[in-house]
Amino acid sequence: MIQFINHFYRFTKKNYYQYLFLSPVFMGLQFYVLISMAADKQEHSMNKGEYLFHASGCEYCHTADQGQRLAGGRPFYISRQGVVYSSNITPDVQTGIQRYTDDEFVRALQKGIGHKGKRLYPVMPYTAYRSMKREDIIAIKHYLDKQPSINHKVPDKNMVFPYNMRWAIRFWNFINYTGENFQEDPKKSKLWNRGKFLTEGPEHCSYCHTPVNWSNGRSIIMDYSGGSFQGWTAYNITTDEDTGIGAWSDIDLEQYLSKGYVAGHGAVSGPMAEIVNTSLSYLTLKDIHAIVIYLRSLRSVEKEQGAAKISVKELEVVEPSHSHGSHLFSSACTNCHLENGEGKQGEYESLWGSRTATVTCGNNLVKVILEGATIKDSRLGSFEMPSFKDGYNDQDIADIANYIISHFGGRNGHVTAEQVKIERNALEKK
Ligand code: HEC
Ligand code: HEC
Ligand code: HEC
Repeated sequence: MIQFINHFYRFTKKNYYQYLFLSPVFMGLQFYVLISMAADKQEHSMNKGEYLFHASGCEYCHTADQGQRLAGGRPFYISRQGVVYSSNITPDVQTGIQRYTDDEFVRALQKGIGHKGKRLYPVMPYTAYRSMKREDIIAIKHYLDKQPSINHKVPDKNMVFPYNMRWAIRFWNFINYTGENFQEDPKKSKLWNRGKFLTEGPEHCSYCHTPVNWSNGRSIIMDYSGGSFQGWTAYNITTDEDTGIGAWSDIDLEQYLSKGYVAGHGAVSGPMAEIVNTSLSYLTLKDIHAIVIYLRSLRSVEKEQGAAKISVKELEVVEPSHSHGSHLFSSACTNCHLENGEGKQGEYESLWGSRTATVTCGNNLVKVILEGATIKDSRLGSFEMPSFKDGYNDQDIADIANYIISHFGGRNGHVTAEQVKIERNALEKK
């Protein structure tokens, strides 16, 4: 018997292990174990409060452009009503949230009632944060309490009558706020429930991606079929194959959400870039996967234009046109994006298949050209799209935009110099 075991041991040692270690299946498994260890580490290296703080996207709204982190002052324009500024949420005694008790802080996030009963405008997404439990919210507060305190008084709101009266927000709440806690659906998987919690709760995806109803609240029948945020179009992300994201593969969607770009769909810009940079890129791959599983279960709604379906191969054979827009595109943009939009340095510069580059109104496209955009990758550094507002007049920019829409989408763009002018003025105001 001993001899047999010895023999077997020698055999396995000599052949079997070698075979096992080198087999592609085993190497794949090793790779998988390493990746999941890295994902777990990411989760554990951040404590619960820090993780939820990132998952909730507080940083973007509560930091002004060129302002200090979390010191508030970012303006939010509400059409026909006025402007509200985000609060300072650093632990400063006079201007920050140092005066908040735990109970007050929980109430602010779950019910939109601030210090001393001040009603908060629903620009602050308390209707979504309602999903978080008391202990989750206290964990976020503990994280905020440890951040540097900054003395910065934010400007007062400037709203027209009757929207300037905070108590009137009760009416909005009465119509639009159910105040329900997040309930797990026992018939659905753990992962789906986690995805629903993140999407509907902390990540507040519907806040931008759902159109508003008559009372400026969430339109439930058109849920996730595309909305707008500060002038940017937040596209339809329902499962509709043409106008939503039904045709995206899971892997593409996961990469887009966690990294901010994927070949064949372009890159994030505007508020979505802020959400990826300050929030989604901090989530574990398992949580990103859970969000995708939940998005896949959304009711499909057909609305507005989707991305045009033209492949890189087709773009390669398109003869460049000789329009003014085409010349400007070749001289200003192809250095990074290449003529067929494949991206010179990498996928993050890829433009083909992007919805922003192919919808005919060119709303987001004009903004990207004027403002530029940045993706922050914690490992690889920042990828920047420069701003082209200087050196090109309104007509030049409209021509570039219309050329891009026809070249990458085979559609006629409707961008006008007047539209570019309005965007330029709005940008100056920021
Ligand atoms: C979409 C933008 C947005 C996001 C995301 C957001 N906030 Fe706010 N928040 C605001 C705005 C705007 C106000 C000011 C509302 C007002 O004046 O009525 C505000 C107000 C507040 C207040 C009230 C402070 C005071 O003035 O008394 C607190 C506390 C707060 N936010 C904490 C948070 C935390 C914590 C998070 C993340 C979990 C968060 N906010 C995410 C926009 C946002
Ligand atoms: C120096 C390199 C560079 C140049 C030049 C450049 N871009 Fe970009 N562009 C980028 C990078 C990097 C990104 C990804 C960053 C992001 O989207 O946050 C990007 C993103 C974009 C996006 C958003 C991606 C999407 O799918 O929606 C558009 C649109 C765009 N560029 C158009 C242009 C146009 C038009 C020009 C010429 C006027 C131009 N770019 C010139 C580097 C460049
Ligand atoms: C603050 C507003 C805001 C929030 C919150 C937000 N988005 Fe977006 N999203 C946008 C905007 C604006 C765009 C269009 C600009 C762009 O393509 O980058 C966009 C684009 C997208 C796209 C690309 C669609 C396409 O066809 O190109 C996907 C997918 C997406 N968002 C998913 C999500 C998910 C999932 C969440 C929640 C985890 C989320 N977004 C939260 C504003 C937002």
